Amino acid sequence: MKINSIEEYNGRIKRVLVSESDIKREVKKAGELINSIYDGTPILLVSILKGAFVFLADILREVTVPCELDFMEAKSYFDGTNSSGTVSITKDLKHNISDYHVVIIEDIIDTGRTLSEVIKLLKARNPKSFKVITLLDKPDRRVVELSADYSLFTIPDYFVVGYGLDCGEYYRNLPYIAEYGE
Ligand code: IMP
Ligand code: MG
Repeated sequence: MKINSIEEYNGRIKRVLVSESDIKREVKKAGELINSIYDGTPILLVSILKGAFVFLADILREVTVPCELDFMEAKSYFDGTNSSGTVSITKDLKHNISDYHVVIIEDIIDTGRTLSEVIKLLKARNPKSFKVITLLDKPDRRVVELSADYSLFTIPDYFVVGYGLDCGEYYRNLPYIAEYGE
């Protein structure tokens, strides 16, 4: 995907679906939920690159229990808005998660394929416990049965960008979540 002008770039942002202030409010609530669930127990936050990096950076600063971070990279979308249908793990964790209470921080659950592969892989490594928090959930698109332990926003079947989510690597920097359209 190539964007050739600022007009084209701005024109593809159709409308704001989740505002910056709504995100801030819900991220704070999700952070408080983590603090109450783990109640002082150390955790490992695992983020799936790249889409979840903005959400992780914000939720992390709401967490008051001792926490470590690790990253995985899994890909199912390659360019544009179409899923390839297959998932590849392109970067694995550095931690041995059998010593940890693991909290996955994900950007969006769409078909569910990416996360279900990641969950399979990580559960096989016997973490002390395992939970999934997702910023966005698009349940209408699910092809694999899967639900997060906590989801901040449920959205209809739109392709969205912003707050870490991209289209062809653009728009991750938007402070809100918007519907994308060509
Ligand atoms: P899934 O495997 O179909 O659940 O989706 C996996 C990945 O596709 C997500 O982690 C996102 O990186 C990406 N994705 C899915 N829906 C969207 C969207 O609406 N906008 C941007 N990326 C998306
Ligand atoms: Mg992702």
